[in-house]
Amino acid sequence: MLASGQGEQTARAGGANGIVPRHVAIIMDGNGRWAAARGLPRALGHRQGAEAVRGAVRTARSLGIEVLTLYAFSSENWKRPADEVRDLMALLRLYLRREIAELDRNDVRMRFIGDRTALSSDLQELIAHAERKTAENRGLQLVLAVNYGGRNEIVCAARRLAEEVAAGRLAPAEIDEDAFARHLELADLPDPDLVIRTSGEQRLSNFLLWQSAYSELLFLDCLWPDFDEATFRQAVADYTARERRFGGR
Ligand code: FPP
Repeated sequence: MLASGQGEQTARAGGANGIVPRHVAIIMDGNGRWAAARGLPRALGHRQGAEAVRGAVRTARSLGIEVLTLYAFSSENWKRPADEVRDLMALLRLYLRREIAELDRNDVRMRFIGDRTALSSDLQELIAHAERKTAENRGLQLVLAVNYGGRNEIVCAARRLAEEVAAGRLAPAEIDEDAFARHLELADLPDPDLVIRTSGEQRLSNFLLWQSAYSELLFLDCLWPDFDEATFRQAVADYTARERRFGGR
């Protein structure tokens, strides 16, 4: 059951499960604990996490979700030990090299948010290549957040607005929520209907702070590498069962 208003714009009937969220965003957490529970190095937890990414993309497509945004590397993740940062970057590289052809065949459009200028130049090239190669695809939009931070995204939008005001192209009174949102990354996409975080932590950790203002939040105990098709489908079913009010009654 969905409230009237924005809910009607951001959710639609789809598949056998009824209402599916248009945009699902996931904070993939728990790779390290998954590995530790098995006496394995953290790197193997991340590798298994990358497998879960493949599965999540497959499930999102089969559910008819339009946008899947995954928090792959936060701007705070640089504080991790250098070898772990290296492992995560290597996995991203591998994912982009190995998966892009299949994603493209499956009509997936890949996009990236976050400050890519801090990434190695080969990774920046892989990202640009993935975006270019899949730009015309009209199926699932897969957004990877890499070196992303929500506060920084908001600060950058504020800076761009200030520049427009300083240049005389915009009056301060013209700055409203719509004008602000147009200066965020992926301004053309709907806000996430559902934000999922795995591993039992109940925080947004600087993820999509503006865009998640009205999102349903779902915190799952499951560790990211264990996030399989059944878990994803159940999460969407839980979303569907919730009533969304957007501040109204
Ligand atoms: C959190 O686990 C996960 C991350 C730091 C990033 C997610 C990365 C992946 C799923 C792997 C590669 C991604 C792609 C897109 C190929 P954690 O290390 O914080 O787990 P912990 O809290 O249990 O230590």
